[in-house]
Amino acid sequence: MTVHFIGAGPGAPDLLTLRGRDLIAACPVCLYAGSLVPEAILGHCPPDARVVNTAAMDLDDIMAEISAAQDKGQDVARLHSGDLSVWSAMGEQLRRLKAEGIPFTVTPGVPSFSAAAAALGAELTLPGVAQSVVLTRTPGRASTMPAGETLANFAATGATLAIHLSIGNLDQVVTDLSPAYGSECPVAVVYRASWPDQQVIHATLGTLREAMDEKISRTALILVGHVIGAEQFDESCLYAPDYDRRYRPMSAESPWASWSHGDD
Ligand SMILES: C[S@@+](CC[C@H](N)C(=O)[O-])C[C@H]1O[C@@H](n2cnc3c(N)ncnc32)[C@H](O)[C@@H]1O
Repeated sequence: MTVHFIGAGPGAPDLLTLRGRDLIAACPVCLYAGSLVPEAILGHCPPDARVVNTAAMDLDDIMAEISAAQDKGQDVARLHSGDLSVWSAMGEQLRRLKAEGIPFTVTPGVPSFSAAAAALGAELTLPGVAQSVVLTRTPGRASTMPAGETLANFAATGATLAIHLSIGNLDQVVTDLSPAYGSECPVAVVYRASWPDQQVIHATLGTLREAMDEKISRTALILVGHVIGAEQFDESCLYAPDYDRRYRPMSAESPWASWSHGDD
């Protein structure tokens, strides 16, 4: 018996990996995390599967479901939205599974920041503008932030910020980021990226408050940085005609000329 953690993606049912789909189809038990996992993904479960929404459960309840499946020798598909590496609560479940010696696997999913960037048709790392993306959040009712992980500290780097779980903290976002980024810095809020009711709001730090749609109160990502909407940026060396590199040596004297694809 194995618990398969599966990243269910940002919302669109076809933004699920083939591995994730096949695991869901093979598991007689599916535990899924509430409102963000679309019904269509649950359609991959076997017809007689036990399908349980864990939104209202606590960790002990979830472990009880897993223990019951273990008693029957049944594999479990455990679905969380987006990818499992960020804000999935997988860590605490893995700790319990390890303590009880229950085997598990982890299948990644498409994270919401990728889906939001896709909605914008944007690359978040443009040469000469920003080469880092910070996945972060602001403090919530149930979550404090470690001391150094402030928006102001991240802003000091000039990186692109993908701010999760924070649509209710817009004032703080604007206040903390404006000194470093400036009020003209572009912002995009992407609501329910990849869902049929996806909405994109373009603004600047200075105009964000008035640009916001008050109906957007959850499931939105705030992307901040000078890469958003940028037209002025360097071309990467990757496709530059005169860039000598492993896959395209410029001459017989190139250090890459004798490299073969099996070398790495
Ligand atoms: C509990 S976290 C889950 C993050 C998820 N594990 C991921 O990989 O993106 C929920 C937050 O992720 C963001 N989010 C999740 N799905 C989203 C979507 N489809 N569109 C925009 N933001 C989304 C929102 O900021 C939301 O408050």
